Formats: sequence, structure tokens, C-alpha cells
Amino acid sequence: MSRRLKELHNDITTLLTGVVEAPRREAELLLMAYLGKDQLYFITHQDEPIEENDPKLLEWIEKRKANVPLEYLTNRVSFYSREFFIDEGALIPRPETEHLIDEVLSRVAPDTTMTIVEVGVGSGIISILLALHLPNARFIAVDISPRALSVARRNSEAFGLSERIELREGDLLSCVEEKIDLLVSNPPYIANDAPLENNLSYEPQNALFGGNIGDEIIRRLLDEVYERKIPLFVCEMGYDQRILVHEYLKNFAVQSLEFYNDYASFDRGFILKANHD
Ligand SMILES: C[S@@+](CC[C@H](N)C(=O)[O-])C[C@H]1O[C@@H](n2cnc3c(N)ncnc32)[C@H](O)[C@@H]1O
Repeated sequence: MSRRLKELHNDITTLLTGVVEAPRREAELLLMAYLGKDQLYFITHQDEPIEENDPKLLEWIEKRKANVPLEYLTNRVSFYSREFFIDEGALIPRPETEHLIDEVLSRVAPDTTMTIVEVGVGSGIISILLALHLPNARFIAVDISPRALSVARRNSEAFGLSERIELREGDLLSCVEEKIDLLVSNPPYIANDAPLENNLSYEPQNALFGGNIGDEIIRRLLDEVYERKIPLFVCEMGYDQRILVHEYLKNFAVQSLEFYNDYASFDRGFILKANHD
């Protein structure tokens, strides 16, 4: 049986009400992805007849009601105004990570030939965005998860960047011998026992949890910065980790340390210029 698009939109909105935060918007996104159409189509085809009992659509609605993130159902995620492939093998990119891109781009010349290394590449969004803006830089992007690396590979190929972003599997910098000019990372930084929202249970746990306190991987990365004499490190962190980072860096020589905020004005990351003299 078919139903007009606007009626189906209302039906799905009702089904998602009380389950997701923005049911009307999510019903729209779900229908657009299901139809493979954009927002303009959605607005201009409100009376279009749509098959309402298609098993794929019904399955998506059921899974969304069970809190499976919309991005994992549609295999689409938008980040920094671009669209990326995503699946359960990688963390769903968060809007706050856009600040990390801006912080890097405001400090690096567009024609830089730096070697930039990302630890924890996940879906690939950070390295891909930076590679698009920094056409002469060399990129090495590491992840410990082969599933995340296959998502990153798919995205870097879609952006025509597979030649420029070298993907490697390993623990932090263990697989990187090269001299590093800039290290970037959005590492896992949530404490192992932190209470989480339901939808986070569908995301890879090694992308979320950073250890008993939460900042363990950040600290290991800071150790690497000094062992490997990396001059610049831009890193995302938890909103409550500023003091921890500050305290840990008392053990090291720092040229400058700046913190940046996210869209909600929470502390979200830092830029470290290390002093290796
Ligand atoms: C928070 S996610 C970030 C993903 C992506 N860069 C983003 O910003 O959306 C952290 C990533 O670090 C990876 N990871 C966790 N522990 C790691 C380790 N010891 N070495 C390398 N990568 C690690 C996870 O597999 C995950 O893909």
C-alpha cells in the first residue's frame, strides 16, 4: 500500500516521538535516506505516493526505535558540510570535532609540506578534511581497529585521497617511524565506568573509552610528543579534562598550551607547542 510522503512523514514522526530527541527532523532524514533524495525533493514532493510497507523502511523504523543511531541505518553522516560513509566499525563523527579542524587550519600554512599524523582515524573525517585543505601535506593515519580502517579507506577513496592518506594499523605511533611535524588526534577519552546514553552502546567501545580515568590515551600521546620530539600536537579531550592535561604537562617543557571550546562553550581540546630544546 502506498501513502503520500507527508502522511508517511507524520506516521514516522509519531512512531519516533518519545524515543528520539527530534522525531520530526529524524523522520525526515530517515525518509530522505530511504528514498535516496535530498531536502529539496522532500519539500517539493510531499504528495508523492510512497510504499509504506517496504521491509527496509519498516526495519529502519524499528531499529531507530531501539536507539540504533540514524547514521548507522542510513550509512551516511555529515561532517564539516561534507557527506561521509559510516558503519558500526567506526565512531559517528561529532560536530565538536569540527573545531579541531579549524584549530589546525588556523595554525598551518595552506601550502605546508608537513608530515601530519593522525592517531585514531576512525571514519577518516579529520585526515580527509585536512588533506582537502592542505594539498601538499603528507598524511599518515593510524587506528588500532581494522574495521575503522576499512571505513576510513572507503571514505578516503571516495574523496580521491587514497594516495595522499596512508592508513596504518597499530597502537598509537608504534607503526610510524617517520619524523612527525604535527600530531592530531581525537582519542577515546571517556572514563570506562561513565554512565552513557543508550545510543552510544552501538558505537565501537574502543573509540569511546580511554581508561579508568578517561585521559590515559591522551597522557600516552603526550608522552609520545616528548619522546618523538613532535613540535605541535592538536588534540580533542573531554569537557572536564583541562586540569588533568594541565597537571600532566607540568612534567614537560612547554612552549605554549592553549585550550579551545566547542559549540556549547565547553572545553573540548588543546593545542600544545612542545619545547624540545
Ligand atoms: C574517538 S574515535 C575518533 C574517530 C575519528 N577520528 C573522529 O574524530 O570521528 C577514536 C579512535 O581511536 C581508535 N583507537 C583507540 N585506541 C587506539 C590506540 N591505542 N591506537 C590507535 N587507535 C586507537 C579507535 O579505534 C577509534 O577509531
